[in-house]
Amino acid sequence: MKQKITGFHLDREDHWVADLKCGHRQHMRHDPPWMVRPWVLSEDGRRSRLGVELDCKRCDEAGHAVAEAVREALRTVALRAYDDGGLSGLCAEGRWELALDALGAADLRPVIRRALAPERGEGALVSARMILRPLLPDDARAIQRLAGDREVAANAAGIPHPFEDGMAEAWIASLDARSHVFALGHSESGEFMGLAGLVEADEERPRTAELSYWLGRAYWGQGFGTEAAQTLVRYGFETLGLESLHASCFSRNPGSRRVLEKAGFRHAGHQARALRHLGQDEDLERFIQERSRSRP
Ligand SMILES: CC(C)(COP(=O)(O)OP(=O)(O)OC[C@H]1O[C@@H](n2cnc3c(N)ncnc32)[C@H](O)[C@@H]1OP(=O)(O)O)[C@@H](O)C(=O)NCCC(=O)NCCS
Repeated sequence: MKQKITGFHLDREDHWVADLKCGHRQHMRHDPPWMVRPWVLSEDGRRSRLGVELDCKRCDEAGHAVAEAVREALRTVALRAYDDGGLSGLCAEGRWELALDALGAADLRPVIRRALAPERGEGALVSARMILRPLLPDDARAIQRLAGDREVAANAAGIPHPFEDGMAEAWIASLDARSHVFALGHSESGEFMGLAGLVEADEERPRTAELSYWLGRAYWGQGFGTEAAQTLVRYGFETLGLESLHASCFSRNPGSRRVLEKAGFRHAGHQARALRHLGQDEDLERFIQERSRSRP
């Protein structure tokens, strides 16, 4: 698909990259004799190329993925409606009408969003109502806004309060290969709702990780915490191949405790005055979950 160049920027290795209208990017290297684009080295040259159209392969791939996902979703909706019609004893025409009605009423937006999920970053996970995608530097502002709420910080040991400028950026930059942290995006609205992650332990305790999560206050009590925890448990065991997962919550946090239970954790112990957070001594409840034999 053709897309217009809207600007240019330098990558970390000082190569020029064209920004396309669709949000994708393409390298515009000047690397003679292999790539000869002397115009890219001057501001005038780059300006003269603004508005020029390039073939965007990533848009083509995304279009293909969306078409496949929509076709599959429509097939499923039609089959289900047809089967339901069969059960209630309708004639063939009646069943087709039912199937067409169901197709007309099918909401394809979540299907399309899911098909596009990899575009939002490699390795996004998809759950029933959320896209869990790797963090981007731009998430810092949303993190500060939601985790800056004292009610959120008061319940999560890792969140400072007050949440000052620069803290979220520094934290994102500090994440290493052992940290599998995901932004929780609502799959309908795309809203950033919070974070959930697994942090693998060091070499002395291989194949184990600690689960943690938080949601902005507006998203509490709707099952998103449970959905995120269950998705990360599956990711930890099935994708990362971990043998055990740990988690803990303040003893006075029944919501988090319940999230852990619903995600398959069992209580492993109580620790009085385990840590100090926002000026208070906190008791902790510890939880553990081992890989079950039935998992792949
Ligand atoms: C803890 C948190 C992640 C829970 O997420 P959530 O999406 O609100 O929880 P869910 O809607 O999935 O609810 C899970 C269960 O907990 C229960 N629950 C939720 N809040 C509760 C509360 N304040 N008291 C008692 N039970 C509660 C729900 O009823 C549900 O149980 P049920 O299905 O048996 O009814 C969320 O409240 C949060 O982010 N809090 C602030 C930060 C935090 O505490 N992070 C965890 C640190 S360990």
